[in-house]
Amino acid sequence: MQLKGWIIYNGNLYTQKFSEQVEWLLRTASQFDIELEAVANHELLVTIDGGNAKLQPDRPGPAPDFVFFWDKDLFLARQLEQQGIRLFNSARAIEICDDKALTHQQLANQGIPMPKTIIAPKIYRSVQDDRHLTQVIETLGFPLIMKESFGSFGEQVYYIQNERTLRQKVHELGNTPYIFQQYVQSSYGKDVRLHVVGDRVVAAMLRKAEGDFRANVTAGGKMFPYQPTEAEKALAVRCSQLVGADFTGVDLLFGANQEPILCEINSNAHFKNIYDCTGIDLTKAMLGYIKEQL
Ligand SMILES: Nc1ncnc2c1ncn2[C@@H]1O[C@H](COP(=O)(O)OP(=O)(O)O)[C@@H](O)[C@H]1O
Ligand SMILES: [Mg+2]
Repeated sequence: MQLKGWIIYNGNLYTQKFSEQVEWLLRTASQFDIELEAVANHELLVTIDGGNAKLQPDRPGPAPDFVFFWDKDLFLARQLEQQGIRLFNSARAIEICDDKALTHQQLANQGIPMPKTIIAPKIYRSVQDDRHLTQVIETLGFPLIMKESFGSFGEQVYYIQNERTLRQKVHELGNTPYIFQQYVQSSYGKDVRLHVVGDRVVAAMLRKAEGDFRANVTAGGKMFPYQPTEAEKALAVRCSQLVGADFTGVDLLFGANQEPILCEINSNAHFKNIYDCTGIDLTKAMLGYIKEQL
């Protein structure tokens, strides 16, 4: 029987880079004999009516066999799951990956090497009492890294040189959720991105930036095909499984002895950069995996 699926994408973030990837998935799906339809998240409104949840407007035809959920709209993801639809990735996996504080908390106590991380305490309005910074400084020293819990492309990751900039940033961020983190000097300007599908690393690249501690391609990092070590592969797969994801882009930092350290996990990793860098087509790996799973 032919599989029917939807790819859900964010209808308000539909840049050329995005539409290109949605169309690419649709093309690969047709090669895999999967009937895939692109649906924008705002075409499906989560509605509670008469005390019950549903999606509206009604879409004609039977429910899809799966949803390739390429967005972070968690309410929509959870509603689709409540209706019994299998999501790739699951709502919970997307939730854990999207929130950097939650990612680190979820991976803690599992033997995963991570930079020392302190989750900023919740502030309601503005910072009135910043005495906790004494503990932060004592634990992490300078320089340290601050990262907003929700961010990408390295744009919400800050290098904090001294106490003055620390206080300034803390007051500036106010109620925005973020973490304080140990600066991993040995990884300056470079990291590895491993793409995991199920329990396999299917592609990897090294990213290197010049003149910036962040290796993100959007921040000027250059990409190089990379042959990951067994330790790097094992760590990426383990992290991906601990957050319950089917597909991830796992970013690893290099420790002082080149040992891998988990930086972050992306549940909605783009597949264009890795294709340009390695020629590996993730859409094939992902849709092949979906077919296998169903
Ligand atoms: N603790 C750290 N020490 C050193 N460099 C870091 C650290 N955390 C992140 N980086 C650098 O910053 C980049 C962006 O951080 P990351 O957590 O991946 O955020 P984003 O979601 O914006 O990509 C990483 O790819 C890495 O190069
Ligand atoms: Mg990253």
